[in-house]
Amino acid sequence: MSVVDEIKAKLDIVSYIQRTVPLKRAGRIYKAPCPFHNERTPSFVVNPDTQSWRCFGACAEGGDIFKFAMKQNGWSFREALEELGRMAGIEVRQQTPEQRAHEDANDRLRGMVKTAADFFHERLLDDADPAAVRALKYTREKRALNDDTIARFQIGYAPASWDALLSTLTNMGYSENDLVLAGLARRNEEGRVYDAFRNRLMIPIRDERGRTVGFGARALASEDNPKYLNSPQSPIFDKSKLLFALNFAAPTIRESETVVIVEGYLDAIQAHQAGYTSVVAQMGTALTEPQIKLVAPRWANKVVLALDSDAAGQNATRRSLEVARETLQADYAGRLGVDFRVLNVPGAKDPDDFIRENASGWAEVVEAAIPVADFVIGMEADALPDKPSIQQREAAVRRLLPILSASEDDLYRSSNLQKLAMRFKLQERDLLMWMSDQQKMPAPKPAPRPQASEPPPNFPDDAFLALEPQRVEPKMRDIVPSELDMEAYCLRALFEQPDAYYAINRKLRELASELPNGTRAPLDDFSSEDFSRTAYRELMTNFEEALAQDEIDFVEYLRQHLDDSLLGELNAIMLDQNEAYALRVGQRLPGDLAASIKTNERQQLLLDVSAELIEMALRLRERRLARERQELAYLEIEGETARVMYELAAASLHAKHLIDMEISKQLQVWQSAGDPKRQH
Ligand code: UTP
Ligand code: MN
Repeated sequence: MSVVDEIKAKLDIVSYIQRTVPLKRAGRIYKAPCPFHNERTPSFVVNPDTQSWRCFGACAEGGDIFKFAMKQNGWSFREALEELGRMAGIEVRQQTPEQRAHEDANDRLRGMVKTAADFFHERLLDDADPAAVRALKYTREKRALNDDTIARFQIGYAPASWDALLSTLTNMGYSENDLVLAGLARRNEEGRVYDAFRNRLMIPIRDERGRTVGFGARALASEDNPKYLNSPQSPIFDKSKLLFALNFAAPTIRESETVVIVEGYLDAIQAHQAGYTSVVAQMGTALTEPQIKLVAPRWANKVVLALDSDAAGQNATRRSLEVARETLQADYAGRLGVDFRVLNVPGAKDPDDFIRENASGWAEVVEAAIPVADFVIGMEADALPDKPSIQQREAAVRRLLPILSASEDDLYRSSNLQKLAMRFKLQERDLLMWMSDQQKMPAPKPAPRPQASEPPPNFPDDAFLALEPQRVEPKMRDIVPSELDMEAYCLRALFEQPDAYYAINRKLRELASELPNGTRAPLDDFSSEDFSRTAYRELMTNFEEALAQDEIDFVEYLRQHLDDSLLGELNAIMLDQNEAYALRVGQRLPGDLAASIKTNERQQLLLDVSAELIEMALRLRERRLARERQELAYLEIEGETARVMYELAAASLHAKHLIDMEISKQLQVWQSAGDPKRQH
């Protein structure tokens, strides 16, 4: 039994909630006006059978005793665990002193960098300093940033001094060592410490949560090199995991499911100033996998890369595209269909220039972005000489294949092949062969063409067996598994492939769009409440927390936050099918199990996961809706609230219907296609 289970076994949810909320009995449940919002008729329900609570009113939220304690007191899960653990008299393992110290040290560094940003910002606005006045003039006139933008992005000025920041921060009590560690200062051979940023326009770089972690510093004097000086790698600044302006762009990206990635900080700032708030900037390097995962498929299903029209820009884009392909292929074999597009800024050097000249034209430019495939095909074709030899054409196509073959879904892939073959005057068959060379996979056999004129030669009888469609083993989808099996299946798949979570939510959102306005609740994001077992709920909560944070690696986060019993639960779930993962998380399993999973099998597993996972998740949602409708039925409410309850139940039924249709649609696809997952 996990610590969580133990605590719950000791504490009864009804008595716990009754300490602060006047619960009244109604049949098998208890009800009261919701403690989390203002209402007169009760829509807050506590169910002793399931040891859960739910508000059917404005909050439309619920959960177990932990969720209640967290919500009521504003506690984190860990705080709730400690407090409820104390009430139940159960020892709860604390964060290790090292973990605590580590977090404190990083918080201190971030605090210092933020203080530096405040300092630089104040300097920029200092009208007593002629150099600062020039910097501000440059910002307003040359860069066309208005005062709102300057304030919002906290643009600053680092004075042309060796110790302006150093003396300010050390006077405030920060140590020279911390300044050097965060890259704000440097130490020369003699051990003298001096300011790293001098006479530069300071652009604070924030992480996804808006915490200032570093700077991009633009030279103000033309002789200063490099043009941009960035904070060095440090415990709080990892440029491969940051996207500039993501903190400002996140809401728009989520809402529009689209992200536009530009190259320069000032391109992004200019776009935001013009109201294009789904724009983020790269960090002066080609895109990395962690950067892509910050936005897609997590929030965006469309990624538009904007590039400078010079050749260097195009090469960087190409590298970025390859990383994008690898990232998405590794996880889904292109199945989630993130739509990657490339835009060329017409006539102008970069988005910054373009937007300054024609802000309203930017929307069209983004709209006109072309699919990656078309872009790279055009790029290679343009680079060919006038009458290219077959070798030159083959070389060009071989360069293109890795970018094209998996950057989109299967359908796209075959149309890409057609385009390539046409454009380079090559045989599609050859292309397929080269592609399989590159993927080190067995060459796909061309479909056998029945030739009416010529009867087949005398094959041995069993030769025809190979052409028969493969018999498909009955799988999870053919039998409806028990609820607990489905829960374990879902968790396993999610922990194996965390980003698939966004695919589930995208499906739920898609279905929710068919619900009447304002009744999205029954098809809300997948969450811990879709699980019935406490341990699974806790694991799902931890999963969501691990995914929502950007401090540390997902697996590392779990390693630090799951207590032994939850880790045991997780390992038990993972052990069934994927020992390798449990090994990574728990490091408590024998190594030969992991070694026995060959890469190929693992990839097959990944292929299978997302479609089936979505179906399982939908089934879990149906059961949750059924549970909730049952609880709702106990509420005997009249008047206005009754109408609200009635609408809730109706929306819930409507949602169930949508899910049923979706599942049977999927079943039909599978039945009519045999088993599509084995066909490529
Ligand atoms: P660009 O040189 O294209 O700059 O660098 P830009 O944004 O158009 O700059 P302005 O308009 O001349 O001010 C694009 C990005 O490449 C990185 C920075 O992140 C910059 O925003 N970069 C560029 C560096 O890191 N170092 C450099 O020396 C130059
Ligand atoms: Mn520029």
